[in-house]
Amino acid sequence: MKYLSWFNVILLIYLLSFPLALELNKRVFRGKKKKFNKALKMGRKVHPYVGITLIVTGLIHGYNKLGGTLSFHTGSLLLLILIINGFIGFYYKKKRNKKLATTHRIVGMAVAAAFLLHYINPWFFQ
Ligand code: HEM
Ligand code: HEM
Repeated sequence: MKYLSWFNVILLIYLLSFPLALELNKRVFRGKKKKFNKALKMGRKVHPYVGITLIVTGLIHGYNKLGGTLSFHTGSLLLLILIINGFIGFYYKKKRNKKLATTHRIVGMAVAAAFLLHYINPWFFQ
């Protein structure tokens, strides 16, 4: 099931590139590129759906890779941080406060770090 692993990586890259695209738009283009603004608006709409999809497909991938069990693994750490960040993301959507947006981005960095551990040393906890 290598396909599902790499499908998950594509979804993860999409999620992680969102803050980079927002910063690029703000600092480099200063919000003046209409097409980019439009794309980001779409990107914002799609983002939570991609997040939820990754949580579900990540769970399926993990369950398959661990042969029908779910033990504590670098993959489950990654999934756990993603779920926590999902809650923060939806809470931010409701409250729209800057602190929650920043927290969501910082936990996003923890997601990236957990993915690196999962990829480089998947059996770190065993
Ligand atoms: C949520 C996002 C996840 C992503 C993006 C991801 C990504 C990957 C990638 C790229 C690989 C290496 C390619 C391969 O062996 O197919 C891999 C392997 C693996 N993943 Fe995940 N994974 C995720 C979640 C999980 C979860 C939740 C678990 C288990 C609880 C898990 C368990 C494993 C295992 C056991 C391997 C094989 C390690 C080995 O022996 O080489 N993964 N994952
Ligand atoms: C993997 C790492 C992730 C990163 C780096 C990330 C990044 C971001 C960023 C930069 C924003 C915009 C904040 C702002 O306006 O300044 C955002 C919004 C949001 N994120 Fe994420 N996110 C991640 C994962 C997730 C996941 C897994 C979910 C859901 C399961 C999620 C749900 C949301 C929601 C609901 C919003 C608000 C969207 C809106 O404004 O309408 N995020 N995220």
